[in-house]
Amino acid sequence: MLILLNLFLLLGTVAIHAMTNNLKENIATKGKAVQSSTYYLKADAAIDDIDFYCTHTKTETNPWWRLDMKDLQIIEKVIITNRMDCCFEQINGAEIRIGMSLENNGNNNSKCAEISGISARQSVSYSCGGMQGRYVNMVIPGDSKNLSLCEVEVFVNDSLKIRGRAVQSSLLEYFRADRAVDGIKYAPGTASFCTHTQSQTDPWWRLDLLDNYYISSVTITGRADCCSQRLNGAEIHIGNSLEENGNNNPM
Ligand SMILES: *[C@@H]1O[C@H](CO)[C@@H](O)[C@H](O)[C@H]1NC(C)=O
Ligand SMILES: *[C@@H]1O[C@H](CO)[C@@H](O)[C@H](O)[C@H]1NC(C)=O
Ligand SMILES: *[C@@H]1O[C@H](CO)[C@@H](O)[C@H](O)[C@H]1NC(C)=O
Repeated sequence: MLILLNLFLLLGTVAIHAMTNNLKENIATKGKAVQSSTYYLKADAAIDDIDFYCTHTKTETNPWWRLDMKDLQIIEKVIITNRMDCCFEQINGAEIRIGMSLENNGNNNSKCAEISGISARQSVSYSCGGMQGRYVNMVIPGDSKNLSLCEVEVFVNDSLKIRGRAVQSSLLEYFRADRAVDGIKYAPGTASFCTHTQSQTDPWWRLDLLDNYYISSVTITGRADCCSQRLNGAEIHIGNSLEENGNNNPM
């Protein structure tokens, strides 16, 4: 038997989330990498999970490398592995930048760290304290610079993992149904961590808890940036039926 929690809503957060506290998954390997120019060694060599293969731009002004994670992420740390053959001081002054914007090729996003130095073949971890973004950039400001990276690993906070399976009647941009159960209520300046349906008749959102539960309370968080009145009139339905997408369950 299955318990379904049904909510008619446009945006919000449901306070149900799992509690683990690991940082074990490197999500960089699932992304796509590009760089400002290529001197033999391609951009994806930094996300191939092999330290031996490295990237290399041409010698240029402000060379950069960018990882597209294809979705918003909350990033806890980035680990950079330097080259082992020579010239390991080339990386000095490189900046790690994280954000949503592609302005200036993503290099104008917020700075997580500036690399003062990494010894040959070594990996250094930079804490980004929960910065949010879709892009991770590496950029070395200045003229006649080479950017070479042997591995870039990106870790997100596992405690933000979702419990249950969320779906909704339609999707607007990247405001997916699981954003309401990701453990993030609201990120300043954006409603990115909320859900959003398209404009439609009787929009709904549904959480499948994947097991039987007695539900004692449901906490809903509305969006903070605007339009909080859009939640007015939303109904919470709970039950086992999927009739009418679960919306016929008792209110
Ligand atoms: C990016 O930031 C630099 C330095 O702060 C600034 O000069 C430049 O105008 C910005 N680029 C864009 C495209 O806004
Ligand atoms: C950049 O790489 C080129 C080609 O390997 C090299 O000649 C040059 O010295 C390097 N520049 C710096 C600043 O390391
Ligand atoms: C992961 O996020 C949780 C909840 O925000 C926080 O309490 C915890 O300190 C974070 N863990 C790490 C390793 O950053």
